[in-house]
Order: sequence, then C-alpha cells, then structure tokens
Amino acid sequence: FPVSVVLPAGGTGERTGLQTPKQFCTFLGRPLISYTIQAFESVPWIQSIVVAVAKENMDLMTDIIQRFKHRKVRAVPGGSTRHRSICNGVLALGEEERPAVGRPKVVIIHDAVRPFVEEDFLCKIAMAAKEQGAAGAIRPLVSTVIATTSEGYLDHSLERAKYRASEMPQGFTYDVISQAYQRCSESDFEFGTECLHLALQYCGTNAKLIEGPPTLWKVTYKRDLAAAESIIKGEFL
Ligand code: C5P
Repeated sequence: FPVSVVLPAGGTGERTGLQTPKQFCTFLGRPLISYTIQAFESVPWIQSIVVAVAKENMDLMTDIIQRFKHRKVRAVPGGSTRHRSICNGVLALGEEERPAVGRPKVVIIHDAVRPFVEEDFLCKIAMAAKEQGAAGAIRPLVSTVIATTSEGYLDHSLERAKYRASEMPQGFTYDVISQAYQRCSESDFEFGTECLHLALQYCGTNAKLIEGPPTLWKVTYKRDLAAAESIIKGEFL
C-alpha cells in the first residue's frame, strides 16, 4: 500500500541556544536533516517525502534536497506552529505533481530532528496505522512526571509505570490525518502537541502504541548535538 512521509522541519530550535536551527547543524559535512531524509529516502516502499520548512530556510532546503538522487523529496512552506507545518505537509500530499503517484494510504509523520529511525520500525508503524487508523512510538519514562502548583510546590505525582513518553514516528491513514486537521480548532493548531490525540478526538480512531528503540530520541539541546555526532560516526548506538 502507498506510504508517504511528512517531516516537520519548520522550527527555529531555540532550545539548543544556537543561531542555526538544529535540523540544519552540520555533522561530518552534512546537515542533520539530510540524515533524517536519507533514513526515509532509502526505504523502497515509501513513495514520497514532504519536508515543511520556514520560508527563510527554503533555499537551503532546496539545495539539500537536490543532493538526493530519487525525486521523491520536496519542500513546502512550514507554519507558525508544528501542527501548521504538519498540516501544510499533509495538504501537499494531496497535490502530488508526479502523475504516477496517487494519494497515499498511510502518512508517516516524523520530526526532522530524529535522524536515527530505522526501516523495520517504520514498517511496524505503517502496518499498525493502516489497520487501526493511527499508531505512534512510545518509550518508557526516564523521570517521574509531577504536577506543580502555581506557587512552585508539589501538587501530585504520576505513577511512572503507568505512563509512557510519546515519541515519533506516528502513522495515520491519509483519511484520518487529513480529516483531523480539517475538523480541529484554532487552539489545537496553536497549543496541541500530539497528532495522535487529534486523530482520537476528531476521528474517533484507535491509536496503537508501539515501543520504539532509544535511538528515536529527539535532538533538542546542545549536548544532544554531540551525542548525535557520535552516533553518526558509529561510536555508539
Ligand atoms: O520544537 P520541537 O523540538 O518540538 O520541534 C519538533 C519538530 O517540529 C522539529 O523538527 C521542528 O523543526 C518542527 N517544527 C515545525 N514548525 C514549527 C515548529 C516546529 O515544523 N513552527
């Protein structure tokens, strides 16, 4: 069944404290995002990849894309929030330019700053999304999650064993993800962080959760850049 990918890459990466957004930081001569694109581009059963990028990085992105030999990667303008960037990508999948490529059955969404995703896990997500409507990666929690009072005191804590961290990739049938974005509200676009939640809330679909490997982690802080470089060099996995 046809599978396409949306990579939100429209962020400015403020948390790394660097001038360059983290997806464009260079590792062994290549921007981080090119490793993420490669992880998808090398998968034969993926028919197209749409990358959502901020306007100011569009030229840079076009340059990166041109280095991939298959013509299945393209860039679209990102949005002011992560959801708007993803939504732009999903809309673009409905307007494929190559005549032989139709609408995908399944859309995989993955952050541009999680470069180490592997084909076998993508396959699990795509299969589960096709069967259930939606599927997403989870990881056990490293720290306990607590709620604080507005004055900065402990309100309550959650039982760690019962909860999981929601990671990427996530997969959806095209119908579910496009309808979720048509039906959701302005505030979902502004504040929502979870595509799976939109699918559940607006399409009533099941969301299958699958535990992924630790390498799905998101490059977020400056120290993550050093860890990512070590993995790319093959020093540890
Ligand atoms: O900021 P955060 O780490 O949650 O961003 C996750 C992903 O969402 C990144 O790949 C980032 O580029 C993307 N994003 C986006 N459009 C925005 C904000 C973030 O595509 N407006």
